Amino acid sequence: MSDDTIIRVRDITKTYRLYASRGDRVKETFHPRRKAYHRPFHALRGVSLEVKRGETLGIIGRNGSGKSTLLQIICGVLQPTSGELEVRGRVSALLELGAGFNPDFTGRQNVFLNAAILGIGRGEIEKRLPQIEAFADIGAFIDQPVRTYSSGMYLRLAFAVAVNVDPEILVVDEALAVGDEVFQRKCYSRIHEMRRSGATILFVSHSAPTVVELCNRAVLLDEGELLLNGPPKLVVSEYHKLIYAPAHRVQTLRERLKTGHGDPSQTNACEGGQGSPSRDSSSSAQCMEAFLDPSFLPSTTISYEVRGARISDPRVTTPEGRIVNVLVSRSDYVYTYDVEFFETAFNVRFAMLIKTVTGFELAGAASFQPQDAYPVIDAGSRVSVAFPFKCALMPAVYFLNAGVLATVDGSETYLHRIIDAAMFRVQPSDSLNPRAIGIVDLFEDPIAWITRQ
Ligand SMILES: Nc1ncnc2c1ncn2[C@@H]1O[C@H](COP(=O)(O)OP(=O)(O)O)[C@@H](O)[C@H]1O
Ligand SMILES: [Mg+2]
Repeated sequence: MSDDTIIRVRDITKTYRLYASRGDRVKETFHPRRKAYHRPFHALRGVSLEVKRGETLGIIGRNGSGKSTLLQIICGVLQPTSGELEVRGRVSALLELGAGFNPDFTGRQNVFLNAAILGIGRGEIEKRLPQIEAFADIGAFIDQPVRTYSSGMYLRLAFAVAVNVDPEILVVDEALAVGDEVFQRKCYSRIHEMRRSGATILFVSHSAPTVVELCNRAVLLDEGELLLNGPPKLVVSEYHKLIYAPAHRVQTLRERLKTGHGDPSQTNACEGGQGSPSRDSSSSAQCMEAFLDPSFLPSTTISYEVRGARISDPRVTTPEGRIVNVLVSRSDYVYTYDVEFFETAFNVRFAMLIKTVTGFELAGAASFQPQDAYPVIDAGSRVSVAFPFKCALMPAVYFLNAGVLATVDGSETYLHRIIDAAMFRVQPSDSLNPRAIGIVDLFEDPIAWITRQ
């Protein structure tokens, strides 16, 4: 391995044995002729990868594509079934929640335990403890057993340890998503700092903008195979094509990426897409169309108690009224919901909110100002509320709230409110400016006028 290569993964495969039932596992163990009762499942298939010292590598892929398995193998907590691995440097890992700490020990004891596993002496870690405590900022909880921690506290301590032991390789597996935004910000700025100081970072995240911002290279894993290795923007864009492709196109896309046939940026996931009026694949702009993915529904919906009115059927539609949840950036849509009033309501207002996956409130609106709310809506009425909006958002997933407000006993109150009532995904479009970053797509083309003075 060349001098600046710090991690080398060569043709690694991880195979699990899947049993239809627990009984099958027992039968297999005791079968006189070792009859196989299992089906092999390849979590990783022939993955090869080199990481150079100082690189920040993003690993992206759908759920179950093998990202965590690969990281666990690199960290040495999981053995590959076959293949070779070389890691030259101290690895500090923030793996998926649940790994790492002993729940019965206090936070402080776990810090020492973790340090011991990383080969750091007691004296050394005692010196670093104040830094770790300050970073974690969990106060007296440091002396409580870890099982009493919230997931946020657990993450705080785990991250504080991981970044304060001067790792040569830092591995972060999606963990940051559970923290609050303030802590996430702190973690990301620390990751940036470590990056600048020359640490090698392996980073798994669902957030495409974060991978593009943070990483200088990315790989795409799919069904245990490494499909693409390249600049983060390209890899993220191919990943989006793969996840937004209609089911019958996925296999072709995978093959194209795997064999590297043609320019991958020309593979168009929309070709022959659902509801596409044009099958003219030479015109990619025409086939960029919003569609409905029926399996794509929020699992975090909270419907508050109904107080005289009920919201139903929250949905996003095209201006023509077609229900969609995979939208095209820079196109127009309408967020709609229906409300049924069981009791007469006064000073009624209808509200909505768009949030990011982390819950960040991106944009909200109410139908009227409080002083000019709808004066009276009679019991038995049904209304439909529509909020037209321009999808000036970067490719990612967004969540919608819905709320109906009215004056009850002299103060404005929610008659009904649904958190995460609907969700939608924004897929990249041809009109999306490839130089734009962040969440909101504010810019025109050209992005900037440069004038020599
Ligand atoms: N111990 C295990 N036994 C059987 N299958 C497993 C085990 N661990 C992981 N898998 C499977 O391996 C695949 C890859 O998992 P994982 O690496 O966690 O994916 P990702 O992190 O990309 O979501 C998944 O289909 C998962 O169900
Ligand atoms: Mg994972």
